[in-house]
Amino acid sequence: MERNAVQLAERVNRISVSATLAVLTEAERYKARGIDVVDFGPGEPDFPTPEHIKRAAIRAIEQNFTKYTATAGIAPLREAVCAWHAAQFGSSYAPGECIVSVGGKHAIFNTINALIEPGDEVLIPVPYWVSFPDIVKYAGGRPVFVPTETADGFCLRAAQVEGLLGPRTRVLIVNSPNNPTGAVVPPEEFARLYEVCRRRGVWLLSDECYSHFTYGSTRPYSVAGIAGSKPHLIVVGSLSKTFSMTGWRVGYALAPQPLVDAMLKLQSQSTSNPTSISQYAALEALTGPMDSVATMLAEYARRRARILAGLRAIPGVTCTAPDGAFYVFPHVAARLGNGSGALAAIGAQDTAALARLLLEREHLAVVPGEAFGAPGFLRFSYATSIERIEEGLRRLERFFASAESGS
Ligand SMILES: Cc1ncc(COP(=O)(O)O)c(C=O)c1O
Repeated sequence: MERNAVQLAERVNRISVSATLAVLTEAERYKARGIDVVDFGPGEPDFPTPEHIKRAAIRAIEQNFTKYTATAGIAPLREAVCAWHAAQFGSSYAPGECIVSVGGKHAIFNTINALIEPGDEVLIPVPYWVSFPDIVKYAGGRPVFVPTETADGFCLRAAQVEGLLGPRTRVLIVNSPNNPTGAVVPPEEFARLYEVCRRRGVWLLSDECYSHFTYGSTRPYSVAGIAGSKPHLIVVGSLSKTFSMTGWRVGYALAPQPLVDAMLKLQSQSTSNPTSISQYAALEALTGPMDSVATMLAEYARRRARILAGLRAIPGVTCTAPDGAFYVFPHVAARLGNGSGALAAIGAQDTAALARLLLEREHLAVVPGEAFGAPGFLRFSYATSIERIEEGLRRLERFFASAESGS
């Protein structure tokens, strides 16, 4: 060991920096050099936070709500989270069963750390949001991956889950609408998943961060609307995506009170309360008008149609229509080099290499499927304008055309 090498704790060496953040950092480097990057990387809305929410934060500063608050969040906000969730989804939580956290990620981190003993298993459907496996590993748990099928629209099936439950299984994570696939678990399948968890004494952790971005006949849904589901259920929600508030860092968990109390303990010894000003903004978001959510959704729907049509028009690229969120997850494996041909010659044997080349050659930022446990796919976020989507599609087509003509 070098004399000054930093010896880090084993638990931190078990995890790595978020792969999606790594792509964003690389794209930022290009942008800092003045390069026009078409950026399909960000997992965040491109809309500004709605005006009435920003005003509420400004009022909070003017009224000096700038001090510590209760660790679990101010009482009116905990009440508002419960009332909003009840109105949107038919759940019935009391403020003592609610904790406000520093974003949904923080709520997931605290949930897993409050429940998982070393060697416990957490079922994670694949493709997965990048943070799930690392959070489980940090807690000393073992991620057990549940496959989903492209042909089935990446829908998580209770039968698949049941086959993977074992004596150490403690939690099943369900993220619907899903990042990265946009897949939405239909209510009847959610009821089956819940029933499997109830019967086998496993927690169902429902990550509802994208709940309000659904398309076509799909509607926002929460399994918490099932009567009697509370003892087996942890709901994690976030204001980040629904209200375009990623930077404000407000999320929440709804769970049985002993678990909320344990999360409160963790929060009290780490972050303390989420930012006081953000909490007042969140209170306005949950109690004020929601027209801006509908406006954003209508724009996402338009972009979704455009990017889907564009990707599907590229030979060798197939793409499932996402029912929710703001991502498309095309399968591009047929276009990879696979050891021969022009794409192999330029080093595009897998999607990680392909994403790197797209950034280098076309200044097009996408996240490779490897980050989500799904090589052969690329994730495109369509939280960007139609004009940028069209420019990005042009660059993608040009890349494939020029790579294959050997130029
Ligand atoms: C599936 C999923 N869950 C949770 C989060 C956490 O969001 P936040 O911590 O901003 O609430 C994200 C953010 O990208 C996500 O994609």
